[in-house]
Amino acid sequence: IPVERFDLIIFGGTGDLARRKILPGLFKRFADGQVPDGSRIIGAARSEMDRGEFRQFAKDAVISAQGDAVEPTVLESFLEALDYVTIDALGEIGWSELSEKLQGDSVRAFYFSVGPSLFDDLAVRLQKHKLVEPDTRIVVEKPFGHDLETAKALNKVLSAYFDESQIYRIDHYLGKETVQNLMAVRFGNMLFEPLWNSQYIDHVQITVAEEVGVGGRGGYYDKSGAMRDMVQNHLMQLLCLTAMEPPAKFDPDAVRDEKLKVIRALDPVEPHHVVRGQYSETDDEKGFRDDVENAKSWTESFVALRCQVGNWRWSGTPFYLRTGKRLQARDSEIVVVFKDTPHSIFGAEAGGARNELRIQLQPDEGITLKVTIKEPGPGGMRLMDVPLDMSFAETLGDHADTPDAYERLIMDVIRGNQTLFMRDDEVEAAWAWTDPIIQGWEAVHDVPKPYDSYSQGPTDAMLLMQRDGREWREIG
Ligand code: BG6
Repeated sequence: IPVERFDLIIFGGTGDLARRKILPGLFKRFADGQVPDGSRIIGAARSEMDRGEFRQFAKDAVISAQGDAVEPTVLESFLEALDYVTIDALGEIGWSELSEKLQGDSVRAFYFSVGPSLFDDLAVRLQKHKLVEPDTRIVVEKPFGHDLETAKALNKVLSAYFDESQIYRIDHYLGKETVQNLMAVRFGNMLFEPLWNSQYIDHVQITVAEEVGVGGRGGYYDKSGAMRDMVQNHLMQLLCLTAMEPPAKFDPDAVRDEKLKVIRALDPVEPHHVVRGQYSETDDEKGFRDDVENAKSWTESFVALRCQVGNWRWSGTPFYLRTGKRLQARDSEIVVVFKDTPHSIFGAEAGGARNELRIQLQPDEGITLKVTIKEPGPGGMRLMDVPLDMSFAETLGDHADTPDAYERLIMDVIRGNQTLFMRDDEVEAAWAWTDPIIQGWEAVHDVPKPYDSYSQGPTDAMLLMQRDGREWREIG
């Protein structure tokens, strides 16, 4: 879908996110002809840099993200659209210059790719210099608060200067192609929705497993942990899209209203339904505590929990969520496990397994439905399960070059479509549910269970499922 000409101003334009995601994502949209002529991408940051240096920074960023796939002439024309202004979020430097660079007749979006402590200062100065028009868009990133109180405070800051319809809170998981496909599968087919409830679904498991450790983000991560970093936002969004009622329309408020109802319907989590873990060192690599440079850290790099959406559709069908770093593989999926058939006409010895719908997000994207068929051959009626498989790469061929989440989301900002962005009440409801879990750990000084790096996580996470007579799918 084409977009209108735009000015995108990236505060924190020389930062890590701009380098890894925003600039390479914009380049890909440009190379696909989706950035209209005359659009401008303006980096704004404290660094003393001129336009040429910023273009070089962007060039390096694109090449390192895209490698050989970059067509040099296309890259050069992309760089033409880039500009830079040295700006002081806390003072007056750069604001008039920025104002002069903006075009009156373009869609305008300010991307706050900076820590939340600067939101207030940026907002004040944007207003003071009259840079915000009624349909100007403001993009903010997670972490959106550290708990309910701080999230409310951030929302208050933003709402003092902007209307909610102008605010785009990014959860990049919503920009992932398969995550959107989950909605297409659920609401574009007749096949699944009649079965999509506790009468037919035994349980749902959602896993976001990472192979990497905390890397260079130890300082941030030690204060955050997997619950705040992943569960409160990314896993919560996956849970919402799996559990929500069909929205009447695919429009921002219809979708977000339904997601909000799911979060608000979540029962409090019982302490014995949560497992926290921390990865240990290997012969060659540091363990979590060394990575975060805190020998006494009690922060979790892994969480598994069992939760319940307390409503008519889901009562009795548990949702198991699991996420962690330094696990066996990068492997993320939503698995919907259906119940046994009410009666087996073939007898228990014939074999066969439950139907499972598996939506794979990472590393490869695809959807698999496990069905039972007869084992081929003359050996009588023996059953086996086979996958009805749709690997995006194989089935869709060229179309399988799935865009990075940021490409999609930035273009949605320009289009003015908030469907895949989080609303203030959604973020707050998610914190309201996670806060008591975290406070519960703090109250009893819960110590995370150690787990081997590159494993399936702590044994207790396995037991969480086994106690219910269920099993996690293997990671990797
Ligand atoms: C980020 C978290 O939001 O998501 C990181 O802060 C995590 O800790 C990342 O590694 C995972 O994103 P993806 O797209 O690689 O699954």
